[in-house]
Amino acid sequence: MKFFLDTAIVDEVAEMIDTGLVDGVTTNPSLIAKSGKGMQDTIAAICKLVDGPVSAEVTATNWQDMVKEGVYLRSIAENVCVKVPLTLDGLRATHRLSQDGHPVNVTLCFSANQALLAAKAGATFVSPFIGRLDDIGIDGMDLITDIRMIFDNYPELETEILAASIRSTEHMRAAALIGADVATLPAKVMKDMVKHPLTTSGLDAFLADWKATGQSILQE
Ligand code: E4P
Repeated sequence: MKFFLDTAIVDEVAEMIDTGLVDGVTTNPSLIAKSGKGMQDTIAAICKLVDGPVSAEVTATNWQDMVKEGVYLRSIAENVCVKVPLTLDGLRATHRLSQDGHPVNVTLCFSANQALLAAKAGATFVSPFIGRLDDIGIDGMDLITDIRMIFDNYPELETEILAASIRSTEHMRAAALIGADVATLPAKVMKDMVKHPLTTSGLDAFLADWKATGQSILQE
């Protein structure tokens, strides 16, 4: 399972990159706005830090302009993945961009049928939004299950399921159990995944016992 960081804050990516856990990054226009920085500079800086795909989203709403924006975004760095919304124009743009060899992440997916369309259009990734479905009282994880089953029925569909809008460690556990190919998560959730109270108390006990021995591993 690949882990992407869901952020447009360059420092957050820089902080997490040496964990070896970050396979890519996803941004969106709201995350860029929240960062308070320019999009091009932000995407260029993140692309330098990360080897894997960095999603940068188009903001045009007609497919011709989406394609132009996508080609421009791809010129920023070779690991840019063009993010396109799940509309009919978005699917047309996905088809064109993918035919021209550009990776595309189709975003704002809220149904299994939408995911099927994104895959047919040639998306590299489709991003079902778990948390936003939970927000309106629908279990977002059921959507991941449905898409996993559909894609497994048709091995010719090579699109990867990118579980998005992940808000908690429980979302991560469930997405991994179902078999999402990728999860994009805020840095806080990635850090929360590390934690367990028994790890903390166990380490405290080990260190206290070790200190009592008076030994040091690196002692000459
Ligand atoms: C994914 O690509 C999106 O940027 C993101 O996961 C949306 O998450 P949110 O619903 O918490 O804003």
